Formats: sequence, C-alpha cells, structure tokens
Amino acid sequence: MLLPLSSQNVIQYLQAAELYSLEDGNSVNPELPGSSKKNFNLLVTLGNNHQLLVKQERRQANDGNPHEFFNEWLFHQLLRQFPVLGNIAAIASLVIHFDEDNSILVRNYLSEYLELGSFYQNNYNFPPEIATAIGTTIAGLHRTTFQRREYRDFMATAPEGQYRYNFYNPAQGIESLTPDIFGAVPKEALQFYTFYQCYESLEFAIADLAYEWKPCCLTHNDLNLNNILLHSRWDKLDNCLVRLIDWEACAWGDPAFDLGTLIASYLRIWLSSLLIDSMLELEESLQLAVIPLEAIQPSLMALIQAYLNAFPAILEHRPDFLERVIQFAGLGLIHQLQKTIKYRQHFDNTDMCALQVAQNLLTMPEKSVQTIFGVTKAEIIEPMAKQHQLAQPQKEQKLVRLYYEKTRLRGC
Ligand SMILES: Nc1ncnc2c1ncn2[C@@H]1O[C@H](COP(=O)(O)OP(=O)(O)O)[C@@H](O)[C@H]1O
Ligand SMILES: [Mg+2]
Repeated sequence: MLLPLSSQNVIQYLQAAELYSLEDGNSVNPELPGSSKKNFNLLVTLGNNHQLLVKQERRQANDGNPHEFFNEWLFHQLLRQFPVLGNIAAIASLVIHFDEDNSILVRNYLSEYLELGSFYQNNYNFPPEIATAIGTTIAGLHRTTFQRREYRDFMATAPEGQYRYNFYNPAQGIESLTPDIFGAVPKEALQFYTFYQCYESLEFAIADLAYEWKPCCLTHNDLNLNNILLHSRWDKLDNCLVRLIDWEACAWGDPAFDLGTLIASYLRIWLSSLLIDSMLELEESLQLAVIPLEAIQPSLMALIQAYLNAFPAILEHRPDFLERVIQFAGLGLIHQLQKTIKYRQHFDNTDMCALQVAQNLLTMPEKSVQTIFGVTKAEIIEPMAKQHQLAQPQKEQKLVRLYYEKTRLRGC
C-alpha cells in the first residue's frame, strides 16, 4: 500500500530505510518552491548538515511517461555499473534510495547550488558563460553514450514484472480530444486546442518530427531551467558550474530533443514578458517584450556553439540537426502550455502568442534558426565544420510520412 509521505512521518521513514539514525539531529522543510505538481518533495537536513531531498510521486498525475522514479533509479544503476561514465555521474546528483512500492526516491541535496530558473528570474542577467557550461555538459552526456549498445540495452530494463517494448518517443502532439475537454480545462484554454487543430501544418510537422525522432544516446528528456542547478560561486569556478537533476524521464533518446526542450525553456523567459494589447500585432508584441529575445540570444548561441564544439560528430550523423533542435523547441513550448493548462488551469493571450511562435518554429525551422540564434545555419555550422574537419554529410532520402486522424473541434 502507498504510504503518503508527510513532514510528520518522513524522519520515521528515513530511519526505517537506515538513512537516518537517532544521533542525527534533523529539520524538515515543507515543499520546495521549484517543485512540479507531479511530485511531493521534502528537504530534510540531518545533524551533520547533510541534506536529503525526499520525493514521492503523486501517482494520479502521470504525464504519459511511465516508470518515472524507476528511470532515475535505473540511470544511477547505469552509472554504478559503468564507472567509465564518471563524467556523467559528476554532473548529476546522487540517488541514495528508491522504494518502488511507495514511489519514493531520495537524493543527496546539493546545498551549494541554486536553481538556474530562479537565478535568471532574480537577476535578469544571462551570462553566456553559464550557457556554455550547459552546452558542454549536455554534449558530454550525449557524446559519451552515443551509439553505445551496452548502455542502450541497460536502459531498456523494465521494472520487475513489467515490459518495456521500446523507448518512449516524446515527439507527441496533443492527444485526441473528447467532449470531456470542455469540463476539464478553463474556457480560455479552448483557444489553444482550436488553434492547434486549425493548422494542419502544425500537426504534420509534429508527426514528421515523431517519425524523424532518432534514439541514439542517453538523454535527460526534461531539460528545463528548473532542472539545472548553478553553483552559487559559478563566477569564481572553472568547472562544476552546473548540475542536471530530475532524471525521471531519462531514457535512450534523441539528442535534438534535449537541446530543443532547453531552448524552449529559455524562450519562455522572453515570451512570458510580452506586452499584449488588442491593438498590437504579434510581431509588435514580440518586439516590445520586457526581456527581449536579444537579451537571451547570446546565451542561446553560446549553448549551441559549446554543444557542437564538444560533440561535432553529431553534425555528420544528422545533417538536419539544427532544424530538428528548433522544431523540438517549438514542441517544447507546446508541451509547456499544455502543462500550464493542466496543472494551473490557466491560458491567456501571452500563451496564445507563445503558441504562434511554437507554430513558426515547427513549420519553418530553417528560417526560425536565424530568428532564434540571430545568425543563419551556415554561419553556425561552417566554422564548426572547418575547425573539426567534418565531412559534408549526405541528406537521407525521406520515406512516406505517417499521419493520423483526430477528433476536431467545431469551426476547423
Ligand atoms: N539534488 C538537489 N540539490 C539541490 N536542489 C535540488 C536537488 N534536487 C532537487 N532540487 C530542487 O528541488 C526542486 C524540485 O526537484 P525536482 O527533482 O526537479 O522535482 P520535480 O520532479 O517536482 O520537478 C528543483 O527544481 C530544485 O530547485
Ligand atoms: Mg523538476
């Protein structure tokens, strides 16, 4: 039976799991501010100032990605089984306990680090060095595991008594609608579904992305700014600037998805600061943002350059890598909007603008590369190709696309 974790019983639980002894003093913090709605998180400080993050999954709110805590546990088993992956262990946070029956996971809490999302929110400052560290870190994860069968097979392990037929493809559009939608979301959010269904090109672009999804390395699969921690003395250190946490969606996946998801999270800073007025066109609103795209562009550029510098071979394997990254950024924005509707029951005109930007990224990726990074694809790739002496890759021949029928809202 599921034991509902609370600040009252957590110490008792840790004691039973032999993670705490009576000599340790303790204090328990209520839920952490950066937590998502899907988990219940408690921060426990033990007497020796050692801090543990105790997480319990709220089972009813599953986002479609099954076995979430199991995935993070499996990822840590992978790191233990293959010590050669030490560079990846160094960018994560150690999992010290997993209780499948009660859906509880315990991690070492990194008290010297702060959440990157909060750092940006509090400072309105986007130093490119931070994005460079992130790009290099993610590239390390992808490069070290790229096309390594032994790691893929290990990550294919399913929880006891269950099956994992294949890896979860996160390139998913909006699920088919049923009349229940009218009771499940606020009235304003229906615009989101109507817009989505009015533009077939959008659905086609997502179907194409799902078809082109190429699982080839270990991916984090939930890289947003709240799942990246920044060292509090980042400006005085040469390394260990960032750590990646929350590996619950981690699996064998497509590297373009990780980068795209993270870029979407950066773009959200810009898109949440738009000036919205019925007299303004989308273009004008985008120009009048309190945090303009130009403020985050140097970070986006630093991120992609650092990534490609540390993992240039990806360009030989994936000639369309940049376009796919941009499309996944569009999809990432759509997924964020879906979560806001689902968990916060909220959708407003700013969100509508974000949806339109997402549509552009998904349906016009080549043009959008220039909008997002401020330079063309050639300007990003060519210096890299020269520096790393990359062979110019041949474009793969495309096969027939697969599309599917969906229930449509009236008016589309
Ligand atoms: N190991 C850790 N060290 C420091 N802070 C952490 C650690 N793990 C989580 N946090 C903080 O707690 C928040 C929620 O943790 P996370 O694992 O991302 O939970 P959720 O699944 O609810 O998103 C993070 O955004 C971060 O601020
Ligand atoms: Mg998180």
